[in-house]
Amino acid sequence: MCGIFGYCGQRRAAPIIIEGLKRLEYRGYDSFGIAVMDQGITVRKKQGKISLGASDLSRVKGKMGIGHTRWATHGEPNNQNAHPHLDCHDSIAVVHNGIIENYAGLKRELQARGHGFRSETDTEVIPHLIEEEFKGDLAAAVSAVLPRLEGSYALLVIATGCGEMVAARKRSPLVIGIGDRACLAASDVTPLLEHTERVIYLEDGDIASLSTGGIEIRHQGTRVKRPVQKIDWSLAEVKKGGFAHYMLKEIYEQPEVFSSTMRALKEEEIPDILQDTGGVTLVACGTSYHAALLCRYLIEEHCGIPARVELASEFKYFTSPGGDLVVGVSQSGETADTLAAMQKARMFSHPTLAVTNVLGSTITRLADHTLFMRAGPEISVAATKSFIAELAVFFHLVDRLAGGALEHSLGRGHLAIGEALLQDLSQAVDLCRNAQSMFFVGRGPFYPLALEGALKMKEITYIHAEGYAAGEIKHGPFALLSPETPVVALCPPGHAFPVMFSNIKEMKARGTPMIVLGVQGTQDLEEISDVFIPLPDGGIISHILASAALVQLLAYHTAVALGRDVDQPRNLAKSVTVE
Ligand code: G6P
Repeated sequence: MCGIFGYCGQRRAAPIIIEGLKRLEYRGYDSFGIAVMDQGITVRKKQGKISLGASDLSRVKGKMGIGHTRWATHGEPNNQNAHPHLDCHDSIAVVHNGIIENYAGLKRELQARGHGFRSETDTEVIPHLIEEEFKGDLAAAVSAVLPRLEGSYALLVIATGCGEMVAARKRSPLVIGIGDRACLAASDVTPLLEHTERVIYLEDGDIASLSTGGIEIRHQGTRVKRPVQKIDWSLAEVKKGGFAHYMLKEIYEQPEVFSSTMRALKEEEIPDILQDTGGVTLVACGTSYHAALLCRYLIEEHCGIPARVELASEFKYFTSPGGDLVVGVSQSGETADTLAAMQKARMFSHPTLAVTNVLGSTITRLADHTLFMRAGPEISVAATKSFIAELAVFFHLVDRLAGGALEHSLGRGHLAIGEALLQDLSQAVDLCRNAQSMFFVGRGPFYPLALEGALKMKEITYIHAEGYAAGEIKHGPFALLSPETPVVALCPPGHAFPVMFSNIKEMKARGTPMIVLGVQGTQDLEEISDVFIPLPDGGIISHILASAALVQLLAYHTAVALGRDVDQPRNLAKSVTVE
C-alpha cells in the first residue's frame, strides 16, 4: 500500500531512491515520484511503473531525497496525484503511506487561509500544515502538525535549507537503515539490504531526524534510543536468481522454506499461553486467513481445543473476541485489519500470539508472543512461500501440543512439495486459460486450499474463480456449471473421499471439465477426470502441502499463458496497510 524511500548521504540520491522504490514496487505500482534537494527541491513524478519509466530521473542532482511508489486511495493515478506533494512555495516535500482520515476538513481550513492545492490526495494537506509551522526547525514543525492528523501515516519530509530528512510513523511501517556515512528510510527492509544490515524499526509516535551527522529519534518531545537490529535476509534473496518471475522462484523455494521453518521452531519453547489455553481465535486476511482456516481442522482434531477463525476485517464487528487466546497471522506483520484485531484482543485482555515472517513488524510489538516463520523476503504480490511457512508453523504447534502426532509426516513435508513441483500442468492450463469462470472445491482441510487456489487464480490471471466447500456447490453454484466452467477438485484419500468422489461425478454429469488432484489408483478417480494431477503417496500433511504447491503452479502457468503481469497484478498490493 504505497512504498516510501529516503536517502541522505554522500552519493547522488536520485538513482539510489529509484532502485529503492523498485524493490518496494510490490506495495503499489500505479505512479511514482521523487523529490531531491540540491539548491532547491527538484520534483519528478510519473504515472505507471518505476521499472518502465524512471531512467531519466536518475540524472537529478542532490545528495538527499525522498521517493514514493503509489497504490491510489484518494484520486486517480496520474501525475498530479503522485507523491511527493509540496507546500505553496515548493520548499517542503512530503511522501506518505497511509490515510489521513480528516483531510477534507483540514483542506477546507487551509484553503480558507489561502493555500492552493494541486492534487485530490489526502496527503497534500501535510506539506501545507508543515508550511504554517516551519520556522527553520523541520522536526519541530512536523511534530507540531502530527497531532492534527487522524488516521495512519509513515512520512518522510524534506525542506529547502534543512540538512535533515524527517521521518514519522503512526500505524504504517517505517524502517531506518544505518549506512556508511548515510541514513536511509523505507517502508520495509528489502530496499535497505543493498546498503546496510543495521536497521531501526520506528515505534508509533516516533519522529526521527536523519542527516549525515546521524539519527536522532524523539517520542513525545523526549529523545529516545531504539534498538539497532541486524537483518538476516540476504540481498540474493530479494533478487530473481534466474527465474522468470519472483512468484515462480518463491514457489520453488517452498521445500526449503518448509524445512527451515520446522528446524527453527524445534529450537523454540512453546509459549505457555498456548499450552494452557482452553480455546483459540485466529484472525487474518487473504492467504493468511486461508492458512488459519486450514489449521483449524488440525487444531481441533489433534489438540482437542476449540478453534475459531475470523477475517480480521470482520473481527471488529463482533462484540467478544471469542476463545482465550487470539492468534494474529500475517506474513508482513503490517496488515491494518489484522493489527486492529490484535488491538481489540488486547483491549479485552486476551493473551495474544503473532505468527509472522517479518522481524520488528508492528504485529510483533502488539502481541504477547511471536512465532516467526522463516520464509525469507517474499516479493511477488501473490503470497506463496509465506502460506507454506504459515502452515509449517501451525503444523509444528499442533504436533507439539499433540505429543508428536504429526512428527513422521512433517519430516517428509518438503519431499511432498518437491514432488508436486515436478508435475506437468500443461493440460490443466489449457483448460483454464480459456475459461471465463471456474471453481475450486474441497472438503475438510482441502476446502481452505480450494479457497486459496481460487484466490491465486483470480489475483494473477483475472479469471473469475471461486473456492467452495464441495458440499455447498449444490446450493447455488451448480446453476453456473457448464462445459465452459472448469472445476478443480481436491480429492485426496481420506474419510471425505467417497462423498467427494460422488460430488465430482455429479459435476461431471453437467458437462463440467474436471481437473482432479488425487492419488493414483484411488477408485476410478483418474477415469472420471478430464485432467488428473497426481498427488504423492503419503498422509494428509503430504497431500495438503502438495495440493497447495499445485494450485499455486496452476495459477502461475495459466497467468503466464495469458501474458499477465504475474508479480504485480493489476489493482493489488502486497501489504494492505489501510483498513
Ligand atoms: C494482501 C496480499 C495477500 C495477503 C494479504 C494478507 O492482500 O496481496 O497476498 O495474503 O494481504 O497479508 P499478510 O501480510 O497479513 O499475511
